[in-house]
Amino acid sequence: MGLASPGGFGLYVHWPYCTRLCPYCDFNIYRDRQGGHDDLLAAILADIKGHKERLDVPGPLHSLSFGGGTPSLLRPAQIAAVIETADQVFGFVPEAEISLEANPDRLDMDRCAGFAGAGINRLSIGVQSLDDQELKFLGRDHDAEEARRALEAAAKTGMRVSADFIYDLPDQSVSSWSKGLDDALALGLQHYSFYALTIEPGTAFGLQVKKGRLRPAPEERSADLYILTQERTAKAGLPAYEVSNHASKPEEQARHNLIYWQSGDWIGVGPGAHGRASLKGQRHALEAALRPEAYTRAVQETGWGVVEATALDTQDIIMETLSMGLRLREGLDIMALQTKTGFTLPAEKLHELIEEGYLAKDGATIRVRTKGWALIDRLVLELLT
Ligand SMILES: C[S@@+](CC[C@H](N)C(=O)[O-])C[C@H]1O[C@@H](n2cnc3c(N)ncnc32)[C@H](O)[C@@H]1O
Ligand code: SF4
Repeated sequence: MGLASPGGFGLYVHWPYCTRLCPYCDFNIYRDRQGGHDDLLAAILADIKGHKERLDVPGPLHSLSFGGGTPSLLRPAQIAAVIETADQVFGFVPEAEISLEANPDRLDMDRCAGFAGAGINRLSIGVQSLDDQELKFLGRDHDAEEARRALEAAAKTGMRVSADFIYDLPDQSVSSWSKGLDDALALGLQHYSFYALTIEPGTAFGLQVKKGRLRPAPEERSADLYILTQERTAKAGLPAYEVSNHASKPEEQARHNLIYWQSGDWIGVGPGAHGRASLKGQRHALEAALRPEAYTRAVQETGWGVVEATALDTQDIIMETLSMGLRLREGLDIMALQTKTGFTLPAEKLHELIEEGYLAKDGATIRVRTKGWALIDRLVLELLT
């Protein structure tokens, strides 16, 4: 399966509010008690302009992605305002992907049509499970029926539709995930994200584990569920093109996320958003102020939301290119990396990891084999030492 053209330029918009905080979620999120947040929206619009004034921007946008939090809490008119500003400031290439992460609750025909009318052409819906007991465990606001209705409504608008699922729950057996996976694939979508549950320290689940009230899934079973997911999706014509992402064909892949994995340039606006872009000819890691109030203040006082801009040296760039690029099933062009950075992979270590079945090499491309997909960070460290 081929990939969209490498790199590209994207804009990420972080909307940090959620009506309820899920017990597993470790994103930069805040309970939404008042709605509206026009001050934050105004700051986001100003921040888009602020980025353009300060950065060496590589041309029009290939993608715009609304993530969160719950950006589907924004009204279609607010979404349209962001898209319009992005268009005025940077412009879009023809066929640019404009995507929105949406929660299934209250995602009816009217809202879907509103989002499509605002310019969204891809909806990524956080279904998480089609089993009501599991949804309850995950603290979700919707049930399976509501998720199915939301997916149907979204499909009717003609937008590309993807669904997120979480598996590897503490008590999930291989047979229950096997059924969950079949139910998910029976939806007939062209793109899925299947994420293994991670239990993060600061979350409600993290606290329960610490207190001994919740036991994470045993590692061996996690590996079995991952392999089952790979086999079943491949058979259904939806092979993984990235560790957790599956598409029926290259055009269905998440183009915005490909920019991250292929180490392209993107800017991030909204509280805590990250970016990677060139500032005075050097690649920088950019980080916006974390809390919504601090972010809004930063934009008002300095003209943009970035509070940390770190110049990346060659070692940082090699590390990022490897750890992001190896997530892709098609792997990484090591000649391109060498030309860009002067870095050559250590031949002996590479040979060893190939012999052990973790990596494969095909001409100038190296890729991680299924056995190594849960160990990418460790493999990158081995290649760099
Ligand atoms: C930014 S999040 C949330 C999007 C949206 N607010 C929702 O909840 O549907 C994007 C996706 O990350 C996944 N996710 C978040 N936390 C996770 C965790 N701890 N383990 C595995 N997947 C997680 C979920 O599948 C979620 O849909
Ligand atoms: S999973 Fe989605 S809805 Fe739940 S807290 Fe995280 S961002 Fe909010």
